[in-house]
Amino acid sequence: MELPLLLQEFAVEGRLVTLQPLGNGNVNDTYLAVFRNTFTETQLVLQRINGKVFPTPAAIMSNMHKITAHCHAKLEKELDTADRVWQMPRIVQTRDGRDCVQTDDGAYWRVITLIPSARAYDRAQNAEHAMECGAVLGHFHHLVADFDPTSVQDPLPGFHVTPGYLAAYDATLAEPKAAAKLDASMEARRCARFVENRRRLATVFQDAVDRGELRRRMVHGDPKVNNIMIDEFTAKGTAMIDLDTVSAGLVHIDFGDALRSICNPAGEEEQNLAKVRFDEDLCLAFCKGYMAEASDFLTDADRAYLYDAIRLLPFELGLRFFQDYLAGDVYFKTRSPEQNLARARVQFRLCESIEARERSIRSLIDSL
Ligand SMILES: Nc1ncnc2c1ncn2[C@@H]1O[C@H](COP(=O)(O)OP(=O)(O)O)[C@@H](O)[C@H]1O
Ligand SMILES: [Mg+2]
Repeated sequence: MELPLLLQEFAVEGRLVTLQPLGNGNVNDTYLAVFRNTFTETQLVLQRINGKVFPTPAAIMSNMHKITAHCHAKLEKELDTADRVWQMPRIVQTRDGRDCVQTDDGAYWRVITLIPSARAYDRAQNAEHAMECGAVLGHFHHLVADFDPTSVQDPLPGFHVTPGYLAAYDATLAEPKAAAKLDASMEARRCARFVENRRRLATVFQDAVDRGELRRRMVHGDPKVNNIMIDEFTAKGTAMIDLDTVSAGLVHIDFGDALRSICNPAGEEEQNLAKVRFDEDLCLAFCKGYMAEASDFLTDADRAYLYDAIRLLPFELGLRFFQDYLAGDVYFKTRSPEQNLARARVQFRLCESIEARERSIRSLIDSL
């Protein structure tokens, strides 16, 4: 279906004046749609949910409906006491009251409100930006802290279940082609040793949940810097977007994942490992921003595990890259044969850099 025709199904007033690609997302197809009336303009976001990544788009929309309703009510209630106007996209329904449209090809399309005059960066810009990212994630966790996690469906079963990734790694390791790859590469053998030495890390969070120390709540699921909107006028964080992955989980996983991407200025594709290091200044700034918003829901037990989260997430992603390399690059797209091995080495280096700074990271967390 032609996109302008598709847009007519949604309850929007005015005439469509432009429809153009928006942002640098690499999962969904995202467009900016601008509608105009004589005196007003409405800017909206049209998105096709990636059906290859998300097997149950209808479940995602049902989750999004419930979560945004909960958060919008809370935002309204807290508006007068908040230090800024926090935002969250709203679903624009179809003229007959549905949350999305399924086209003949099976794709699911939705329209959500645009966070105006704001942008998401692909990398942490500086300490102030990192602090705002922390504040946005902390405030998001605050918004969903009293939402019942059993009322949503899991959009990506197995995502961020480290023991599951370790089991997949072990299964791959038992295959002859993995053995051949290990035989052929000293770097690969080094990565295998790295994993062996950290097997216990993989179960730290599962064990803590089993012991009743940590409780599953609502999490964002993909809190990378590119999903955090910064207000262009005030330079303050204003919204968390990309709500497809919102689900029940541990806030630690979001926290660790955000720091994993924010505190590695060299990026995930860095070729020169000497440049890969965990930036503690950005970490401190992020944590300051996060803690300022998290005081009402973060327990002492939660705090005690924040360092483990920072260490775990690069390990988990490195393990996934390395397993995919050994399995023959089935999951992550590659442009060269050794790319997944190189990506794994970046994450493992980042993990080592965190381990080397353990004392200092723990004390910076304790100081906040
Ligand atoms: N509600 C919104 N307001 C403003 N920009 C948005 C909004 N939703 C998405 N974008 C822009 O589109 C990009 C991709 O959207 P996103 O929902 O993050 O999809 P993906 O899963 O592909 O990353 C974002 O990084 C952002 O730049
Ligand atoms: Mg995104």
